Amino acid sequence: MKTISTFQRLKDSNEKIAMLTAYDYSTAQVLDAAEVDAVLVGDSLAMVALGYENTYNISIDDMLIFIRAVARGAKNSFIIGDMPFMSYNLSIEQGLENAGKMIQAGANAVKLEGCNEFILSLVRRCVESGIPVLGHLGFTPQLMNTIGGHKIQGKSSEKIESILSCAKELEKAGCFGIVLELMPAESAKYITDNLKIPTIGIGAGVNCSGQIVVTDDILGKFTDFVPKFVKRYANLHDEMLKGIKLYKQEVKESMFPSERESFELAESEKDKLKIQ
Ligand code: KIV
Repeated sequence: MKTISTFQRLKDSNEKIAMLTAYDYSTAQVLDAAEVDAVLVGDSLAMVALGYENTYNISIDDMLIFIRAVARGAKNSFIIGDMPFMSYNLSIEQGLENAGKMIQAGANAVKLEGCNEFILSLVRRCVESGIPVLGHLGFTPQLMNTIGGHKIQGKSSEKIESILSCAKELEKAGCFGIVLELMPAESAKYITDNLKIPTIGIGAGVNCSGQIVVTDDILGKFTDFVPKFVKRYANLHDEMLKGIKLYKQEVKESMFPSERESFELAESEKDKLKIQ
């Protein structure tokens, strides 16, 4: 069973950490079978699974449904629950209570975006209460409106130093790792090299301690947009479309269901009804 020490051990032994997202039971089963290092129930599910334009419209109660489904499917995986917008911003008590709900729903850790005095206190309180926390810096989708859109972060030496100093504060507060999103590869390398805990990159180059991407993006199931940092490993949208079109055609032509997919009435009962 993987724990937070697994991630530190992987960084210390220079073995990359491979994480992916899952939102449902059957996808979680596949990730579990592939033995990925961790499964993130990301708030990206608001867009990818629920069709919203951004991650603002998902609540803690919604997230808990998906965490429970993933926990039932990924029985041997380390599961991280993403704290959604406004589920930890009102008070330390609110954040701690909601982080606790995620653990009770089956997550092994939670992820929080950003780094200010409030977030640092919340991280400390979670860790003291037995809730491991993964930080998230660089582009943080829940702060998109104040950042001013999907912008690459850490593009100047000052900005890189500022992200590093936040990362060090999160490390000191007890985070077991930090997601670095959308920044030049060199910036992420500099931050990774100056931290003890692992970094998990998304659009942050190959030199992070590990990588996280949205499973539906890399498998080509979510096709609304394809970020530059996504590599396609399969084309599930087209495969599904092909299968569904074939099903539709076979229904129209009475080819489905065939005898193989049907149940037969006993001869004695057919006789009584006088049917062939
Ligand atoms: O919500 C999400 O999926 C994330 C990423 C880091 C992939 O936060």
